[in-house]
Parts: sequence; C-alpha cells; structure tokens
Amino acid sequence: MTGPITVFIANSQLAERERLRKQLADCPDIQVVGEAPNDRECIEAVLRQRPQVVLIQEELPVSGGLQVAQQLSERAGEVSVILVLVNPAGEEMWHKMLRDGIREFITRSTPADLVAEEIRRVAKLQRPHTAAAIADDGKPKNQIITVAAPRGGTGKTVIATNLAVALASRHENVALLDLNLVGGDVAVLLDLIPQRTLGDLMPTFVGIDDDVMDSVMVKHACGLRVVPAPLNGMYDSSLMSRPLVQNILRFLRMRCNYTVVDTGYPSLESTLAAMDASDIILVVVGNDLPRLRDGKQYLRNLIAANYPKERIRLIANRTGVTKEIPTKEIESILKFPVTAMLPNDDELVGMSVNLGQPFVLSSPNKSLSKILANLADSLSVAADANQKKRKSVFTLFA
Ligand SMILES: Nc1ncnc2c1ncn2[C@@H]1O[C@H](COP(=O)(O)OP(=O)(O)O)[C@@H](O)[C@H]1O
Ligand SMILES: [Mg+2]
Repeated sequence: MTGPITVFIANSQLAERERLRKQLADCPDIQVVGEAPNDRECIEAVLRQRPQVVLIQEELPVSGGLQVAQQLSERAGEVSVILVLVNPAGEEMWHKMLRDGIREFITRSTPADLVAEEIRRVAKLQRPHTAAAIADDGKPKNQIITVAAPRGGTGKTVIATNLAVALASRHENVALLDLNLVGGDVAVLLDLIPQRTLGDLMPTFVGIDDDVMDSVMVKHACGLRVVPAPLNGMYDSSLMSRPLVQNILRFLRMRCNYTVVDTGYPSLESTLAAMDASDIILVVVGNDLPRLRDGKQYLRNLIAANYPKERIRLIANRTGVTKEIPTKEIESILKFPVTAMLPNDDELVGMSVNLGQPFVLSSPNKSLSKILANLADSLSVAADANQKKRKSVFTLFA
C-alpha cells in the first residue's frame, strides 16, 4: 500500500490556504505537504518536493495560475495541477487550461468532500502511468513508434497505417494514433467510420482515463485500435498541445504493446511531443534530390536537438520513380544508414487507399508489403530505450 496523496497549495491569501488545509485535514489519505504565496516560491517548492497534486489559485501572483501550471507541466510532468477558479470555467478557459496540461479545476465554492474527491481522482489517473510503463530492468516496456518527415506528402500516413496493421497481425494490443488535426486520413485508409475522434478529447474537459480513451478508440478488423483524427478540419492545431499528447501517449504506452503515431507538420508541438515520447522515430524521406536535401537538413536538426541516433530509422519512400538513386548514394547524401527502401507502387497504394484496405493485408506478396512486414518484424525486437536528456527541439524547427 502506498502512503497518502501528497498535495501542495499555492495561493496568495493566507486565509484561503488555511481554508483548503482545513477542508483536507479530515482526509487520512491526503496530506498537505507545503504552501506557497506566489509563482516563484510555488515552482521552487514543487520541483523540490514533487507532490502528486498542486492546487493553484487562478490569479496566483505574479504570472497567474495558468502560467505556473504550464511551467510545472514542462519541468515536472508527473505532477498534476488542479486550478482553483474564481468562477466555473467558460469554454475559452477550458481550452487554455487544456493547452497548459491542466486536467481539473475546482471553484472556491466547491464543497470540501468534492475537493478531496477531485484530488483522489487526479492522483489515481497519474499513478499507474509511471509505474506500469517501466519494466524491472528500468526500461520502458512498451514501444512507441512515431512516423515523421521533413515535409507533407512523403508517405507518412501510408507507412504508419500499414506498419501498424502489420504489427497488429503479429502482436496483441497495437494502437495507431492519428495526430493530424487537419486532414487526418488514417480512418479513411482503414475504411473506418469513427463515432468519436481525437477532437472529442479536446473540448470536453476531462482527465484521460480508461473510459475516455476507450470512447475514442475504434477497432479495425485486424485488431488494431485506432485513435482517429477529427473528420472535419475545424480544430486548431495548437489545441493539440504538448501536455495533451504526452498524456495520451502515457496512457497508450501503459495499455498497448506497440503504439504507432502518424504525425502532421514537423514543427507542430504535437509532432515534437510524440517524437520526444518515442522509442523509435521513423524518418520518411522522398527519393529525389530536393527531398533528400530536406531530409539531410531534418536529420541534422534532430541530431542537433539530441535525439539519440539509435532511435532514428531512415526510410526512403517511393524509390524507383524516376532514375533510381542507389541506397549507398542516399546514405552518403544523408550521412545516415537507410533502414528500408520502399518502392513506388502507384497501383497498389492507389487501390489500397481508395478501397480502405491496407496493402500489407490485401496484397502481402507485393514487394512494398513484404518490406513493411520485415520492418514490423525488426521493430518488434525491443529497441534501445535509454532515455537520454535532450534539449528542446523547438528553437531548431521554429
Ligand atoms: N510507396 C508509394 N508508392 C506509391 N504511392 C505512394 C507511396 N507512398 C505514398 N504514396 C502516395 O503519396 C501520397 C502521400 O502519401 P501520404 O501517406 O498521405 O503522405 P503524408 O502522410 O506524409 O502526407 C498519397 O497519395 C499516397 O497514396
Ligand atoms: Mg498524412
């Protein structure tokens, strides 16, 4: 049995801090471990003490509760924040909170028993993630594989979808997350008509727990569990914030043996958050000189941002379209080993996309299918999961 849930109170008013303390004093499973009257003292103390839950006043001086919550989510991601609002949150406030990684709020008039209930709920959401994702040897158990590219139209979605299907035909519990808030087409490629999508995780203000994730996952006939992107392009990409993606992936890592992530533009926060959380990053490059040049710059940026080389796998897509550039030459241009060369096959891919039938299932003997199946096999071997510290990649791609 673990000890009580540790709670920190950040509020500029002494009377308010005492009121909250008193409200929680009767709960043996909750322990208030510290208080702070302003942002600076709050951040310092929380980074030092690492409580499970922080109650932050919305108007906390100097910078405000949202700002503090955002800093905490970047610097102490495992700490959950409950914002204490003056009034119940309007929709705009929900969006702001969600962007800053805040799961829950209470208002000053929330009764004591409900405050304690919220704290328990938030702490419960948080705990299993870290515990379950780590195996006995200290390495993360389950794999997250993100498919990224220096530009759109390179083949990320075709590759992510077929790879995920190939993995799902080899393993239990495989998920595919479509992070393309605008124009996500994973569901179309799999001929799925989702009732709910990633978009539903954003405007509704709820913590990400089993029920919420289950409600947006749709199962393909091959067993693959898909978290689809919104079907209409009405969502602002900035809503898919780093903390939200981190939360979703923490959940998927806990539940799924393999999670494949299809990403949008390379500079989006959501793309970077997925790459940060990944054991393997598949970088897809096109096979002509301008695209190889993009690829070279992109790889250079990744290495400069301290993404470990051993986590990156380079995939050259649509080879053989015009004059074939041989693997050796691609490797010497990119200064990086090529893991797979995927041939261009307009007929196979075109038909697969239009019928919503992944080609690894419908045409397993085609060369493209075989290479992706081999890739799925090679990725099935547990990857090196050393978590090396990386500096922020934001500046490099901004
Ligand atoms: N190996 C391939 N052979 C033929 N067409 C391909 C291949 N890979 C991708 N395509 C086509 O290229 C286009 C872009 O692919 P897509 O996966 O949507 O790229 P991205 O997700 O990177 O924007 C699509 O029309 C797709 O059908
Ligand atoms: Mg795509």
